[in-house]
Formats: sequence, structure tokens, C-alpha cells
Amino acid sequence: MLDLAVAADLSREDIDVTAVLDHLVQDAAATAPTSIGYPGAVDLDHTAVMTRLGSRLWNNIGDPSDRGGVAHTRVLEQAVIAWVAELLAMPADDRWGYVTTGGTEGNLSALLAAYRRWPTARIFFSEAAHYSIPKIVGMLGAYQAVVRAHPDGEMDYDHLAELIRRRRRWPAIVVATAGTTMTEAVDDTSRIRAILAEHGMVGHLHVDAALSGIPLALDGKLRLDDAGGIGSIAISGHKFLGVPTPCGVVLIRDSVRNPAKQPIAYTNSVDTTVTGSRCGLAAALLWHAIATHGREGHRWRATEARRVAAYAVEKIRAAGWRAWRYPHAFTVVLPTPPEPVRARWLLATDGPVSHLICMPGITKGQIDALAADLTGAVRAPIPRPRSRR
Ligand SMILES: Cc1ncc(COP(=O)(O)O)c(C=O)c1O
Repeated sequence: MLDLAVAADLSREDIDVTAVLDHLVQDAAATAPTSIGYPGAVDLDHTAVMTRLGSRLWNNIGDPSDRGGVAHTRVLEQAVIAWVAELLAMPADDRWGYVTTGGTEGNLSALLAAYRRWPTARIFFSEAAHYSIPKIVGMLGAYQAVVRAHPDGEMDYDHLAELIRRRRRWPAIVVATAGTTMTEAVDDTSRIRAILAEHGMVGHLHVDAALSGIPLALDGKLRLDDAGGIGSIAISGHKFLGVPTPCGVVLIRDSVRNPAKQPIAYTNSVDTTVTGSRCGLAAALLWHAIATHGREGHRWRATEARRVAAYAVEKIRAAGWRAWRYPHAFTVVLPTPPEPVRARWLLATDGPVSHLICMPGITKGQIDALAADLTGAVRAPIPRPRSRR
């Protein structure tokens, strides 16, 4: 990264702009082979969109169904929403969604819609939920109930049942996670629904599927059909679809929303989204990723990435280190390696646990290099604390 000495001079008028940009690109390229801790796919080529559309403003301000206004890509945005909704088997007459700035905005948009409908609801989420969830609950000013998670990241349903039983006089908004941030655990929405039904609860079930939404839907394991009882879902666009700008998709059952109906005079658009101006380039990039690969292409990508993840577990174990993953997961969980390994590899670490994520584009060669470094770490003598005299 640009060091501070250089950064301090960045506003100088005689700055060499080309050198600064080159520096950024070189730094990113140099760290890319060892950046395997965060879930951005790196196998797709987005050059066609960046070259054709990347140098002007595309503003999808307002609702995706709006027309007119400045240059926009809402028609592509609608195609993206339709593709993801179809993949999730969402009923055509009861769906609405838009392209967001990321999973966080998707969670906010969905939970805002749910909370407007159920303003006395308690919001339940597990301690393995993404940090955006308690933040959003705080923004809404809602009451929260934090459900314990098992060490593998999945929600503790007995604890959920206990928390619901004690709060059954209020509606419940439950956030399930499909792909928790550290272990890629998937909360079981059937079990959550059974608990809600057992206690006769009304409310809303939201799924935060930032990473796993598309791959699980491609497997047929995540559905927003009538039987599933899921009211909304948030997905990140820069994770599995590897779009080179933060973005995402939110989908909400249309029947649970109470949207604004009057257009805003200044923009002549209906204000249904969290932000006003919205990135039309992101919608075009998402559409391009979908249109050029289709369901089969993306299924193949998911299968190949899971193969690399399985290979990573084997290689890391062969190196004398522990590792595990869920069968559906790209994420490989391991005890946090010692500092020399972490200094070289950008893993995500939460105390004693770390992970790497074998997103599409991560190669077996990268895994071999990590395993070699772990072998070295296993063999290296453990430094002894200096004895006090
Ligand atoms: C489970 C989960 N939800 C939400 C998010 C937030 O997504 P974004 O960074 O797209 O806002 C993440 C990001 O890592 C995540 O893992």
C-alpha cells in the first residue's frame, strides 16, 4: 500500500498522478497472490463493461422500474433482479428488489421493510451474524435478542426457541445467515420456521446470504418460494460474482413492503431504495457476469472452487496443521498460524481461528505455497519465553 510519507504529499499540485495510480495497481497486484482471506472471486473478466461504460456516470436513481432521467442502466438492473429471483424460485407476482451498494445495504433495506411492517418486533440474530446486523438493529432503534451460535458457526436453535418463548407477545424478525463470515455456516431456515410456528409467532424471516446466496441457489438449496417462508434476502455482488466494485442485490417479497408511491418531484422517481443516486455501472457489471456465464457457467465455477477448497483442506492437513470446511463451502477454517505465516498471507483472523476462502480464481498453486509455509511453521522451533531472574 502507499506508505504514509507518500500519502502525505498526495494533494501537492505537482504530484505525478500516473506514478500514484501505477503505485496503487502495482501494490494490489503484488499482494493479490497471497490475499486469500476475503471472498472476492478473481476469475471473471469485466474489461468489456469497464472499457465501454467505465468513463461516464450511470445513475440508477430511484426505483429500478422507473424510466427516464439521466443516463442509467435500470433495464440491466431489472434483468439482474429477475435472474436472481428466478434462481431463488421467487413467485413472479410477489417479488421486488434492486442493486445495492453491498450486502450491508441489502440487510438494511430488508430489515427496514420488515420493521416498518412489524414496528414492535424483536429482532433475533445469532452471535455469528455479520456485524452489519447489530449495527442495523441499532439504526432502527429496535430491541434485539442475540442467539448463541455453535463453535462451527451455526445458530443454536434450542437457544432461539428459548429466546422466542420469552418474547412471544411481540412479533419476531429473525435473521438467518447463509454463509457466516468466519466459517460459512448456513442457518437452517426450516428449523427456524418450525420454532416460529410452534410458538404461533408472526413476523419476518430474512436471510443474509452475502457470500453463499448465489452458489446455494445454484445448488437448489436456497429458495424463496411460498413453501420456504423467507421474506427477504441480501446478497453481495463482489463476492461470488466477483464484480470489481462493491455492490449487491436485495430481494424482498413485494407483499411485505409498504413502499413510497408518489414520485419525488426533483428526481421524478419513486424513492424506494436506501440511497438516492445508485451505481448503474455496478448493475451493468452484474448483468455482464450473469449474461456471459449463465446458470451452467456459474455452477461450474462453484464446483471448481469447492474442489480447490477440498484440496486446501488435504494439503494443509498434510502439512501438519488442522483444517476443516463444510461440504458446500469455499471457506477453509484453521487454527490461526504463527506470525511469520500471517505476515505473508492475508488470512482473515478472529483470535485463535483463521480462514482462507477458495473463491473462483484461487489456484492450487497458491494453496501449495501456503501449505509449504505452514510446513515450515510446524517445523520451526517454538520460541521459549525468556525466564525471569
Ligand atoms: C454474512 C455477511 N453478511 C454481510 C456482509 C457484508 O457485505 P458487504 O461487505 O457487501 O456489505 C458480509 C461481508 O463479509 C458477510 O460475510
